[in-house]
Amino acid sequence: MASSLRFCFCFLLFCSSSLNLALCFSLPKNHVAFFIFGDSLIDPGNNNYINTTARANYWPYGETFFKYPTGRPSDGRLIPDFIAEYAKLPLIPPYLQPGINHQLVNGVNFASSGAGALAETNQGLVIDLKTQLKYFKDVEKLLRGKLGNSEAKALISKAVYLFHIGANDYGFLLTANSTMFQTFTKQQFVEMVVGNLTDTIKEIYKKGGRKFGILNMVTLGCLPLMKALVPGNTDACFEEATELAKLHNVALSQALDKLEIISKGLKFAKYDFNTSLIERTNNPEKYGFKEANRGCCGSGPYNGIPSCGGKGDIKEYELCSDPNEYVFFDSSHLTDKANGQFAEEIWGGSHKITWPYNLKELFEA
Ligand SMILES: *[C@@H]1O[C@H](CO)[C@@H](O)[C@H](O)[C@H]1NC(C)=O
Ligand SMILES: *[C@@H]1O[C@H](CO)[C@@H](O)[C@H](O)[C@H]1NC(C)=O
Ligand SMILES: *[C@@H]1O[C@H](CO)[C@@H](O)[C@H](O)[C@H]1NC(C)=O
Ligand SMILES: *[C@@H]1O[C@H](CO)[C@@H](O)[C@H](O)[C@H]1NC(C)=O
Repeated sequence: MASSLRFCFCFLLFCSSSLNLALCFSLPKNHVAFFIFGDSLIDPGNNNYINTTARANYWPYGETFFKYPTGRPSDGRLIPDFIAEYAKLPLIPPYLQPGINHQLVNGVNFASSGAGALAETNQGLVIDLKTQLKYFKDVEKLLRGKLGNSEAKALISKAVYLFHIGANDYGFLLTANSTMFQTFTKQQFVEMVVGNLTDTIKEIYKKGGRKFGILNMVTLGCLPLMKALVPGNTDACFEEATELAKLHNVALSQALDKLEIISKGLKFAKYDFNTSLIERTNNPEKYGFKEANRGCCGSGPYNGIPSCGGKGDIKEYELCSDPNEYVFFDSSHLTDKANGQFAEEIWGGSHKITWPYNLKELFEA
């Protein structure tokens, strides 16, 4: 009796507009979807489905948590995997994974390894931010078809949107002999990156999105990948990359402040990823790590040459015996353990590290 009443209730709620009985499920009242945009830091395997070499769908990626390579560039989980768990959602699948249409109500992940905010970055090898936004708009249409306009609108406005993007734009600028280097000053280039990121947020806002989690840029030049590019193996960081990251963080912070003022109802969880990573590289033991200066998997100085798994031109690589001792799993990506620590801070951290809201507060808002 109780269950048939519940069915009727849900029928009215979700089926009156779509007339599709198969879709008469009841979303809990506090259901909040989770959408993810960006690069490899948070890509659960979208690149498995495009023609690219920027992928991590081979061993030893995935070795600790999933026990098989999923496409995540880590030994285990990425930041959104932990956040989905905290939010009591299933793992959020990659958008390009076949057959995910029935679970779109939980959200979906559009991030692509190697992607930047600019279309020029690794063009043809990645899903750039503009295309990720287009895919989101496609999902929004699908949801309207499934749930009806008003339910879809409610889902979109209650949903949380997570972003990490820009590192590949700066890496590409510095290493790919890009003509952009001659065309733009560093400041102009940074403003284009940040401008494309804030444009994406604005477009989602126009569709009704209100809750955004944004990670700032780490001290890029001190990643094992970047340190390995500095001649001499002297432990020096790649200063030009760090300089771009610093300009990025200043421009990003100003742009988000501006958006907050002009956009009614917009709520940010801004995570100081940079400070948090620096804390760990300065005091690894304090956070339960033994090594924060070199990758667990790779070759060359700091294991900063990205040969983990031996699928590229370089076949040799070293693999540590316990990734839990490491902050970095490969030349530029984090271990399951490090990702878990960052996710905890984004989810429930103090307002000194994630502000003005943390993600838990956005999910509950
Ligand atoms: C995939 O990309 C490579 C290199 O860019 C190209 O040679 C190849 O033809 C592409 N394959 C397909 C199926 O598009
Ligand atoms: C960089 O690109 C320019 C033209 O865009 C070319 O003339 C030059 O040889 C390239 N340099 C390297 C190191 O590839
Ligand atoms: C976005 O990036 C493109 C280059 O891909 C650039 O031409 C454009 O000006 C950027 N948009 C903003 C708002 O900065
Ligand atoms: C990261 O944080 C450190 C310490 O607060 C600061 O000195 C550095 O400039 C920051 N780096 C970036 C890229 O913002």
